[in-house]
Parts: sequence; structure tokens; C-alpha cells
Amino acid sequence: MDYEGFFRDRIAKLHEEGRYRVFCDLERHRGAFPRATRRSGKAEGEVTVWCSNDYLGMGQHPKVLAAMHDALDRCGAGAGGTRNISGTTHDHVLLEHELADLHGKESALLFTSGYVSNWAALGTLGAMLPNAVILSDALNHASMIEGIRHSRTEKVIWKHNDVMDLEQKLAAIDPDRPKIVAFESVYSMDGDIAPIAEILDVCEEYGALSYIDEVHAVGMYGPRGGGVAEREGLMHRIDVIEGTLGKAFGVMGGYIAASSALCDFVRSYASGFIFSTALPPAVAAGARAAIRHLKESSAERDLQKRRVAELRARLDAIGIPHLPNPSHIVPVMVKDPVKCKYISDLLLDQWGIYVQPINYPTVPRGTERLRFTPGPLHTDADLDHLAKALESLWAQCQLARLPRAAE
Ligand SMILES: Cc1ncc(COP(=O)(O)O)c(C=O)c1O
Repeated sequence: MDYEGFFRDRIAKLHEEGRYRVFCDLERHRGAFPRATRRSGKAEGEVTVWCSNDYLGMGQHPKVLAAMHDALDRCGAGAGGTRNISGTTHDHVLLEHELADLHGKESALLFTSGYVSNWAALGTLGAMLPNAVILSDALNHASMIEGIRHSRTEKVIWKHNDVMDLEQKLAAIDPDRPKIVAFESVYSMDGDIAPIAEILDVCEEYGALSYIDEVHAVGMYGPRGGGVAEREGLMHRIDVIEGTLGKAFGVMGGYIAASSALCDFVRSYASGFIFSTALPPAVAAGARAAIRHLKESSAERDLQKRRVAELRARLDAIGIPHLPNPSHIVPVMVKDPVKCKYISDLLLDQWGIYVQPINYPTVPRGTERLRFTPGPLHTDADLDHLAKALESLWAQCQLARLPRAAE
């Protein structure tokens, strides 16, 4: 076998399909988010980041940085082991308590990322509940899909956010079989939000375990940042709430919050939890500081919502098409993979605006887009500059516009 040739061929195929991913080499500036230095070959320039999932800029927050510095000075760099073999530091214990409290659950369990938490929790629940069926929303994230696949249990896909379809599929399953309904609250590419209450109604009617991914919602929604389920008063009805510490909480890591028995079960059986080094204590301490701050402060959330509304208003004023949705994600629709990449390249090179193009397979072909995530630290001048750049590039690429809001 010509291994190198095989690898090169497969990479060439990605290039041909326009799906080869190129990283933007960034150095974020402490205290100046969303500014960053971008390096490309020998060139170097300043950019404004418009596509970060550090939605509230907590990765730069003084309380988070202070907590991380403090933990680093107290405990050193790494955890030094898996949770079971010397890797549980007090910072992990405190963080799990903080997360259980955030979601009003008995317990919480940390993982090294949101991806691993979905993969390990769904993989373990699906594999170990006898003869289980997992009912998965059609647009669930790759980490849930991989977890379900890993469980090797039966999977039934229900139409995205379609509660009637979910109910029909639940009704067709033997009532005695264990069932898990897995879905997200905020879907990150379209920014739409699941009908959580209705989904829980059918879960309760059919005796299914409910599993929600609030990765794009924790820190962002609800009076204490507990997610959409907190905002809608539904947390107590959900069996498993899964989240990340890497987006609105600005650090890294993932978790589930659930009953003590369920968390203890996953802790005891999930290989992705058991056989992996624990998060560094400084990471745990930083995440806890972010969570504690966002439990008490809505200032970041409020300002972020304002910025989202302002960006939408500016786009409407110049007729740039964007997907309407009830969340903080602003998908600007280009609907052409080549133009989408071209516009994002020009934004970066000529306007100092960084937004990653989102092409197939992340989104269906023909729905290529620029996914903007305005944050509390973007200024009026940033918004003006972005609107001006998009207006110019839309004309340059001869892309369709909508009637302007003022017309
Ligand atoms: C819906 C969803 N779930 C889980 C994850 C994984 O989270 P993490 O980035 O913490 O691994 C992501 C990442 O983007 C996501 O979009």
C-alpha cells in the first residue's frame, strides 16, 4: 500500500470539492477581544474576529484570568492523571458543584470537551440500557451522532424540531424498551431553537429519557446563564443537560448535569471519562469563575443581544440576506461555495474582518453562509465597518439583495 499516496489523493479530493479547510493563524490580544493578530506566511496584520464562539468574551474576563493564574500558581500545570488516579483536584470538585447548581441538578460530571461529553454519555447510556433506542434530531451535532454510533444501539432519526414526527416514532416503539430522546436547544448553524417543552411532553408521555445539548446556550440564556431550558423554566423536566465550558464560558471542557445516579453511572462506565487525563486545574478554576460571574451578571448577555439586534438592523438596511432566528447567531446567506470563500478571503485580506466561510458538509449545498456571532465587545465602529464591507463585496460579487428595510 502506498500510504503517503493515499493520504495525498484524499487531500486532493477535498481541494477539488472546495472542502479543504485552511486555518486562520490568530493571536488574540488579552484585554482587547475581539482583536487579534493574523499571520499568513510572513505577513502579519490586525483583524477583528466576528465568528468566535467565545460569545461573551469571557475568555478575556479579568476574573477568569485571575482564577486561572491563581490555580496555576497553587497547583501547577496539568492534573497529573485521570480522575480516578490522582487527577481529581479540588478545582474539579468545586466546578462540578457549580455546574450541578447552575442546572438545578443533583450532580454534574466533567469531561475534557463538549464533544467528549456527548460521545461518552450517549455512547454509554445507549450501550448499557438494555435494548435501548436513541431517537436523534436530524440536525444533531457530530459528537452526538458519533456517541450514538459508538453505542451500537438502534437509532431512529426524527425530523428536525418536528414534535409530531418524534411522537409518531416514539409511539411505534415497544413501550417496554428504554428510549433516549437526544436534541439540542440552539442549533448552531441556523440559530433556530428547539420546542423544548413540547419535546419534553412527548418524552414524558412515552417514558423516554430526555437528553439536551445546550452547548450554544449555556452562559447565554436564562437569568443565571443556565441555557434555554432555564429561561423557559424547564430544567427540572430534563433528565440530562449537556454543555461546554469552551464557548460562552470562554475556557474549555464539557459536562453533563443530571441525577446523582445517572452521573455516577456514566462516571463508572464511560471509557471516554475513565481513561483520559482530567482537565488542568487552572482550566477548571477559570471555567468556574466564568460560570459564577455569569450567574450573577446579565450585563454581558444584555449587551450581546443588543449587538445582535444592531447587526441585523444594519444588514436589513442594506438588504443583505440573513436567516431570521430567535438566537444570537446571524447566518448571512451567500448560497454559493466559491463566492462564500471568496468573500471571506476579501473580508480578511482587505477589510481586516475575520469570519470563516461555512460550506458543505457543515451545511447543505446551496446554503453556504458567513456565520456571524456579534459579542458585547464589538463596537459601533466595528458594526459600521462590517456593514460597509459587506455592502461593497455584495456589489462586487453581484449577489442578490433583499428590499432595503428603509425602502
Ligand atoms: C451542538 C454542539 N455540541 C457539542 C459541541 C462540542 O463542544 P466542544 O467544542 O466543547 O467540544 C459542539 C461544538 O461546536 C456543538 O456545536
